Amino acid sequence: VGTKIGCREGDCGACTVLIGKITEGKLMYESMTSCIMPLGNISGKHVVTIEGLNMNGLSPVQKAMVDESGTQCGFCTPGFVVSLSGYCLSNEEVSYENVISSIDGNICRCTGYKSIERASKIIHNLLLFKDLNNSIKWSVDNEFVPNYFSEIESRLLKLQAPNLKSQTPNPKPQTPVAGGTDLYVQRHDDMPNTNINHVFDNFELKGISVENGICKIGGATTASELLNAEELKSIFPNLRKHLKLISSTPIRNMGTLAGNFVNASPIGDLTAFFIALGSSITLKGTSNTERTIKLKDFYKGYKNLDKASDELLMSLSFPVLNENTNFNFEKISKRTYLDIASVNTAIRIEVKGSKILEIDASAGGVGPIPLYLKKTCEFLKDKELTPETVSASFEVLQSEITPISDARGTEEYKRLALKQLFYAHFMELFSNTFKIEALVNAHS
Ligand code: FES
Ligand code: FES
Repeated sequence: VGTKIGCREGDCGACTVLIGKITEGKLMYESMTSCIMPLGNISGKHVVTIEGLNMNGLSPVQKAMVDESGTQCGFCTPGFVVSLSGYCLSNEEVSYENVISSIDGNICRCTGYKSIERASKIIHNLLLFKDLNNSIKWSVDNEFVPNYFSEIESRLLKLQAPNLKSQTPNPKPQTPVAGGTDLYVQRHDDMPNTNINHVFDNFELKGISVENGICKIGGATTASELLNAEELKSIFPNLRKHLKLISSTPIRNMGTLAGNFVNASPIGDLTAFFIALGSSITLKGTSNTERTIKLKDFYKGYKNLDKASDELLMSLSFPVLNENTNFNFEKISKRTYLDIASVNTAIRIEVKGSKILEIDASAGGVGPIPLYLKKTCEFLKDKELTPETVSASFEVLQSEITPISDARGTEEYKRLALKQLFYAHFMELFSNTFKIEALVNAHS
């Protein structure tokens, strides 16, 4: 879709657009960064740029930004206005926190953010009486967006749905592309000349279901779809907290589960998350042959996958947690949000009485691949759940990681960070038993 200004890497949010699509018969808008969006992904959808929001006078969002000096050089302003207008159009619960979350992918160099926060507060107050069942109509009626938004749903419904079935796995010699959030950054110049199989809207790769104790998630499910899935909220009480640490709203609206796995970044957040859940992935080749392997076995070496070139990652599945099983995800990065992890880790632990029955843990950023902490888990399995036992596992933990010094920290820093994040799992899950003092004492 493109832009000639800004970072062109999905990082600054200056190029944010709204993408409207019909979901379960209703029009919904999501913000996305246009600079890294594959043009093929907007088929059958409504694209709203900043120009598409302009009316004769200022909208309440534009006015709040002006009144509170939320714009100075103006470079970032279109992106902020588009993201905030997208929030007005959404059915999300109205809260100041959610208004701020809607601009978590927008960066401003000038204002110091306080003025944008004040503008957000005004917008929040204006939305308090929004009809959440009819956000688009309400936004039109209250002149948050132009009148033509009232017609978009019927216009999109009339459009013939794109023949997504024709996008079924046939990647050879095409390159399958879903969100492309990393691909279009890494290979920006050669992607226009690449023969692409757009799979972002392929319905075979969509959907989240729970059946017979197994949760199955389609490969093209976006991080936002995970974050909002009712099926997952009941399994992971802290889902929102954990997934909000991943990227930003516009990127979560584009980035997919399979994209995160296949990208094979040693610090992929979703990869660490799902390895610890004992997940399996299903791959399908052009001759319709399917095979299922453990996600932890998918990574053979740095960016080296157990995947044939004609295979597409169709889905992921994992056993739903039982009542004795707990899950946690921890991440450390230079910024809390919108940043790549220096180190991340996830844990699934089943405890009965005071005994660890089962444990699976993962770590990212401490080796060439997303790591399953096999030796540490073997060490802790069947042991008593005590601070002493966990501290005793640190030596094993250190023996199975091979971090390197780079822009995200020295080897020593990453070793220390993982040790502390690993302990943090227990502090989070078993706060009565695990206190920060025990960790400090273990170091002294
Ligand atoms: Fe920065 Fe697109 S130009 S996110
Ligand atoms: Fe200058 Fe935001 S007003 S970057």
